[in-house]
Amino acid sequence: MNDIDLNKVSADEWDELNFPRPETCDFDRVVDAAISRRGFLGGVLAFGSGAAAMGAGTLLPAGSAEAMETSRFAFNPIGIKTDGTVHVPDGYSWDVLVRWGDPLFSDAPAFDQATGGDAAAADRVFGENTDGMETFQIGNRMVIAVNHEYTNRNVNLPQTGDGIPRSLEDVQKLQKLQGVAVMEVAQDDTGWHVVVDSSFNRRITHLTPMRITGPAAGHDLMKTAADPTGTQSLGTLNNCGSGKTPWGTYLTCEENFNGYFGSTETAEDQKPVQLDAGYVRYGIGVDGWGYDYHKWDARFDVSRNPHEPHRAGWVVEIDPADPDSTPVKHTGLGRFKHENAEVVLAPDGRVVVYMGDDERGEFLYRFVSNGSYVPGGPTEGLLDDGTLYVARFNEDGTGQWLALTPDTTGMGSLAEVLIFARKAGSAVGATTMDRPEWIAANPHAVEAYCCLTNNKNRGVKPNAGGDDTPVNGPNPRETNKYGQIVRWRPHDDDHAADSFDWDLYVMAGNPEVYDNVYGGSGNINAGNMFNSPDGMAFDSAGLVWIQTDGKDSNDGEFAGMGNNQMLAGDPVTGEIARFLTGPRGSEVTGLCWSTDRKAMFVGIQHPDAPFPDGDGRLPRSSIVVVTRTDGAAVG
Ligand code: FEO
Ligand code: CA
Ligand code: CA
Repeated sequence: MNDIDLNKVSADEWDELNFPRPETCDFDRVVDAAISRRGFLGGVLAFGSGAAAMGAGTLLPAGSAEAMETSRFAFNPIGIKTDGTVHVPDGYSWDVLVRWGDPLFSDAPAFDQATGGDAAAADRVFGENTDGMETFQIGNRMVIAVNHEYTNRNVNLPQTGDGIPRSLEDVQKLQKLQGVAVMEVAQDDTGWHVVVDSSFNRRITHLTPMRITGPAAGHDLMKTAADPTGTQSLGTLNNCGSGKTPWGTYLTCEENFNGYFGSTETAEDQKPVQLDAGYVRYGIGVDGWGYDYHKWDARFDVSRNPHEPHRAGWVVEIDPADPDSTPVKHTGLGRFKHENAEVVLAPDGRVVVYMGDDERGEFLYRFVSNGSYVPGGPTEGLLDDGTLYVARFNEDGTGQWLALTPDTTGMGSLAEVLIFARKAGSAVGATTMDRPEWIAANPHAVEAYCCLTNNKNRGVKPNAGGDDTPVNGPNPRETNKYGQIVRWRPHDDDHAADSFDWDLYVMAGNPEVYDNVYGGSGNINAGNMFNSPDGMAFDSAGLVWIQTDGKDSNDGEFAGMGNNQMLAGDPVTGEIARFLTGPRGSEVTGLCWSTDRKAMFVGIQHPDAPFPDGDGRLPRSSIVVVTRTDGAAVG
């Protein structure tokens, strides 16, 4: 680990370095599956019976006359870019809404480029690495709740030279720069801005008190010396994607939480920790992901607090309308590396939450509540009392949701099923996936989409639990470097139904480099190619917006793809068009709209280029606001 710059290594690479996967693989199954998928060579997109169910429109080659005639895009697609700023189509403009370090409260000092901001005021400013976000209309005011996923330590602690914290104060600065921001935004003659000192403004950090609810609350595995009840915890960690409930609350999803934990004892002395299969499956070890929290804050030292990691990896609910409310960790939604939480209602009002676990070969989950949501009625328990399911995709274009219970998994209690949801998924034979990222439900059709961002281990190595990852239906390419988007339509038009049909909406690829499956599906061409779909959301008009977090070398297998970007997709025709490009080194992630859809808010995370302040300045993750110059709705 010593010769690796932890500021540059991804969470997945770090996990593999610490917990090398077994090298074994069932090659016969891989080869068989690859042969059976030859249909992709012809660019055929939809599978089996799902093709008819999903509508033949997806089979139209992008750019064909028929597809263009039916185009719903109100913009001319833009080309790739490799520079250090943001680009949008002619007729649109963008501006910075807020940057890391901008004060949310007037008692915070202005950003200091030399220090990366004041440590004491780190929870009074907009945090680092903006990610998932949602807008809330509260009376006549508009509020954005937004995640601050992780930190760029060499940028956030510039005085250290290497980004390694040297003191408790350094650690606390990082802890306060992450979590969530709730902030009021408003528009005036000069554009959109954050309302400094708004009564809604709030920062939630790695130190904020939380309540733990649901079947795992109070279980022995959730108890610590500081909280012998197992029902109160501090902070929410690695807040990645988001969700929004029908009752107006914000959901923030804990993803790579494992990287914050470490041990002040050596691996030799840590036999109890090393032997804990739950630690191994979730990548919790003796070295943190370069944060070094465990050296300064005993809560993150697993040799002293071995249950603390069980209290992270959940979905947290926040009421953006009440800045004094206590956030709630819902154990009913399971513990894994949560990407986002897409909430829909079944016809009978039951609450359905779709969730991905973003790690190579991990699973796709669904929660269905026992109770039904009634507008204005009580919501307590709707995100805890219910059943967690995991997806199995069949080769014939159908699939099932498999319930995770003590009976189906052979695990000792529902609490253990939820705390070790990954092990439960393995026990029932869930389909290993190519890193499930965001899930988005179409507001105009009973269907949902999930970005499977990439998976270099597909067909090569088992997942962290030792499950084989053979090439399979929705994960059809060995060593998948480009990613794809799977969608499913639940049977009976009911998101609570236990079976569904599925197909692939798109397989990303590079048709300039490959004339085989790695060239992508029929709706990918030299003019719209991209890799590693990640963020995703539908707008109210029914277009699906796709954000990327991939290789932006613009070289070799990625030549012609440029910087990370955002594209719009038509779910009916399959047409995909590039709308926005981000600055060099950045990931485009997080998307929401003003209520009238005339303003689109887009997250620009961890730019390498000195965005947006310019040469000689620190790069600052930012939310940009995109509007149409004629004032019409965006998209
Ligand atoms: Fe935080 Fe999987 O992205
Ligand atoms: Ca993501
Ligand atoms: Ca990603």
